[in-house]
Amino acid sequence: MKDKILKLLYDSDDYISGAKISEELGISRQAVWKHINTIRKNGYMIESINNKGYKILARPDLCNKLSVTKYLNTKFLGRQFIHFDELDSTNAYIKEIANDYTDEGLVVLTEKQLAGRGRLGKQWFSQNSDGIWMSMMLKPEISIFEVSKITQVVAAAMYLALDELGISCKIKWPNDIIINDKKICGILVEMNSEENHINYIVVGIGINVNQNKNDFNSEITDIASSLKIEGGKRYDRAEVTAKILNHFEMLYREFCKGNFEKSREICEKNSYIIGKNIYVIKNGEKINATVKGLNENGELNIVYEDGQKENLIYGEVSVRLQ
Ligand code: BTN
Repeated sequence: MKDKILKLLYDSDDYISGAKISEELGISRQAVWKHINTIRKNGYMIESINNKGYKILARPDLCNKLSVTKYLNTKFLGRQFIHFDELDSTNAYIKEIANDYTDEGLVVLTEKQLAGRGRLGKQWFSQNSDGIWMSMMLKPEISIFEVSKITQVVAAAMYLALDELGISCKIKWPNDIIINDKKICGILVEMNSEENHINYIVVGIGINVNQNKNDFNSEITDIASSLKIEGGKRYDRAEVTAKILNHFEMLYREFCKGNFEKSREICEKNSYIIGKNIYVIKNGEKINATVKGLNENGELNIVYEDGQKENLIYGEVSVRLQ
């Protein structure tokens, strides 16, 4: 009942009267008052004015279904939304429950991750609740050979979402979002498949949003940053989350129809590494190369110092700027 009242409060732009809430939910006005007090105890500041009703003045900084849905304009993505205060890893959780969901689009988001995972088996620092730690479950009807492109589709959506918020970022192939030479977001796409059939795909996204400089562990303080540090203000995590989901659903639907070009173009145009000299790390060995572009499959075109060309595939290598 508390959640239903909250939803009514969220949905109304102005005051909503106790009489209206009690009528819509079939409970007494006394009960409405009691639930409103419980909601207040959960951190919401709710004003109540005689003859007008109730209105949310301030809400706790939670990135939950209600706060995200307010900004969401998707058809399927995030319409099923599970929110946790604490979880080991949202990617790991989706893998546990994926078989219980036939439709794609489930989003799992947690305020804190106790064992966040990054690419190439690395740890992902996400023990504080100032970031967005979320995973989406997808069930695309595509060949498994197309899956590596999804990271680029997510990166393109990240670019569009941040652009809409007035933040200018670059995409470091294959899965990093960079602002002012520092990483603020990482993408981890994992697949569960049998032969050429995809059972499900987990798209994990980690974004540093409202952290301050000293919130970062000494291991990453020189390479990581947050939207707040770079943008000079706090951001509403729910709004950022919804904008990412809105843009991703649009690009993902295009991609599933065979149009990857739109995402590829965004990634190429806003690449952090095209035209730059890089190291390709292969089997522990660092090899110098120059990045030429992003091909139609989302592979990175590079030329080694000896003139040899290669198209790098996601997952094969690590790229470090020289
Ligand atoms: C990387 O840059 O290495 C990818 C980082 C991906 C982190 C996100 S946070 C939400 C989701 N759950 C995880 O355990 N990892 C991803």
